[in-house]
Amino acid sequence: MSKKQDEVVETTEAQIAVHWKEEDYYYPSTKFIAQANLTDEGIFDRFSLDNFPDYYTEFAELLTWYKYWDEVLDSSDAPCYKWFKGGKLNASYNCIDRHLKDNKNKTAIHFVPELEEENVQHITYQELYVRVNEFAALLRDTAKLKRGDRVTIHMPMSAELPITMLACARLGVIHSVVFGGFSASASADRIVDSQSRVLIVTDAYYRAGKLLNHKFNADEAVQIAEEQGQTVDTVLVWQRYPGKYSSDTPMVEGRDIFVNEKLKDYYGARVEPEQMLSEDPLFLMYTSGTTGKPKGCQHGTGGYLAYVTAMSKYIQDIHPEDVYWCMADIGWITGHSFIVYGPLALCASSVIFEGVPTYPDAGRSWRIAQELDVNIFHTAPTAIRALRKLGPDEPAKYNYHFKHMTTVGEPIEPAVWKWYESAVGKGEAIIVDTYWQTETGGFLCSTVPGLNPMKPGSAGPGVPGIHPIIYDDEGHEVEKPGIAGNICIQNPWPGMFQTIWGDRDRFVDTYFGMYNTKPDSKDWKDWPYLTGDAATMSEDGYYRVLGRIDDVINVSGHRLGTKEIESASLVVEEVAEAAVVPVNHEIKGKEPDLYIALKPGIDATDELAAKISEAVCEQIGKIARPRKVWLVPDMPKTRSGKIMRRVLGAISNKGDVGNVMTLANPEVVEEIKNMVEK
Ligand code: PRX
Repeated sequence: MSKKQDEVVETTEAQIAVHWKEEDYYYPSTKFIAQANLTDEGIFDRFSLDNFPDYYTEFAELLTWYKYWDEVLDSSDAPCYKWFKGGKLNASYNCIDRHLKDNKNKTAIHFVPELEEENVQHITYQELYVRVNEFAALLRDTAKLKRGDRVTIHMPMSAELPITMLACARLGVIHSVVFGGFSASASADRIVDSQSRVLIVTDAYYRAGKLLNHKFNADEAVQIAEEQGQTVDTVLVWQRYPGKYSSDTPMVEGRDIFVNEKLKDYYGARVEPEQMLSEDPLFLMYTSGTTGKPKGCQHGTGGYLAYVTAMSKYIQDIHPEDVYWCMADIGWITGHSFIVYGPLALCASSVIFEGVPTYPDAGRSWRIAQELDVNIFHTAPTAIRALRKLGPDEPAKYNYHFKHMTTVGEPIEPAVWKWYESAVGKGEAIIVDTYWQTETGGFLCSTVPGLNPMKPGSAGPGVPGIHPIIYDDEGHEVEKPGIAGNICIQNPWPGMFQTIWGDRDRFVDTYFGMYNTKPDSKDWKDWPYLTGDAATMSEDGYYRVLGRIDDVINVSGHRLGTKEIESASLVVEEVAEAAVVPVNHEIKGKEPDLYIALKPGIDATDELAAKISEAVCEQIGKIARPRKVWLVPDMPKTRSGKIMRRVLGAISNKGDVGNVMTLANPEVVEEIKNMVEK
């Protein structure tokens, strides 16, 4: 599929991406290599396309199965694949039960409350086992949940969040976790789409020193879902302080249940894990796409778990004795794969931090690292930039030592990478820049830390088993190094999502429509996976990801659909048209700028701009708050009436707007420029 010539090319992140020069290599230390999980160079040959898909059995063998698979890959319904078909396993069993024999007394989760005066909770594998079992019994008997049901979880960072997820997994209930910072309306959309009749929340949580009332979101979400035809009959409420209700929102009789109280009825309960088929869904994770409606990425059990376990072992280099801290939120895919499922499947100790890394000061993260003796650290460029800005010399003040650090979620500028390496890593830690997506379950590109040298600003080659390829818009391979194109993956892999919940057509169109020429083919070779990112490959086979080719903005490493923000602003009655463009931001990477044309006769006031901004936060969450709402006299438009986001993007980023004389209303460009540059 090629873009039609007369179609307007809109601003993509790639177009305004930073293009930094190729950097020199950094090599892993012999100390790191000596202990690394993966130092066998033969892995790249073993995982060559000639050996596909059988090489992935190496990943599946990291798990404990009730029954081995009959077939590694079933592609009879391509591009909806079944991995390790016929195999049976349970994710909760793999993350907990199987570790009890040797490690029941080992810490599974260190929960670090935001308030420094509160004690860190160290939850052993045995305690995790007990709590997951008791809660699973509650889910089964009180909430009446059974295998295959969906449940929406709107919870902040807490130990109870993985306990909830693992209890669902134990029963074969498909969990759908909504990021805690998302609004009631976002939670409602996900409740409706996944047809959840049970919602699980927390009453309150700390964020930057404030105890936030979270329970009110539940009431609103249930009401909005009801209006859209989905009834929630049970709301389970965890308490931030067990035995005490920290919200002033009333509990609803007959619907709301305090988990902590109810759990007393389940003291000592044990629930036999369901023997799930490998291809049974484990969870849904909603993510922004090119249209307004978020898509529920459906991840399977066996393939997903095998993949994230292998990535945690070989790329994150997690050993059972490591203390591993991933600073992402469990409400995003990074937290699912690399706080919960991967590290726990490997019997590591995983840190869960309730708060903000820079609160109350820029030393907070390093105090946590020192106290818990964290040796593997995982975060995103946006946090690294913030920590660097607020406290460039802070890490040196604390006595911690990382052997391994990850960066994920956005391109990282070489200067920021180098600060991460020297200041945070103290020159002792290797870094992996992991490129992947909600859809992919685990990594696509990264260096293998014990085998490949690092290169600041480049993610690295495809991880073992992943075979990337760059295509131009016409479907020809871009072989020349340094030339940007659309990065695709030639082969399927076990961590890949199975479909979009309830919308197979959208799944096929969005991710495969561009380059599949044989829609009836059952051969995986005919279905290259379109990531939606632009990238270049350099001579050494390392990939550098430039940004999205679609209407998705990456704010602080989180995906927001421009259409999602636009449609949120359109609920404000006075708004006629809306256009969102990404603006470069020193810390967050990108921020949305919102351009609004008002209905005729409506005056542009600051109050109205504030109201529109609030409307966006209310419907999506504060994370989507526009940098600025520009109330413009008119949108720059093509003669066919299409809004020229490219022009708006150039104005917001103080770039060159190019030739605008072919527009229907070129004069408006100057007016908007004056307004924004003022
Ligand atoms: O544009 C890429 C960017 O983040 C997108 C995926 O976002 P999400 O599904 O929210 O998952 C984030 C955590 C994996 C990608 O399409 N991205 C992710 N990792 C990198 C990246 N861009 C550059 N470098 C990375 N390491």
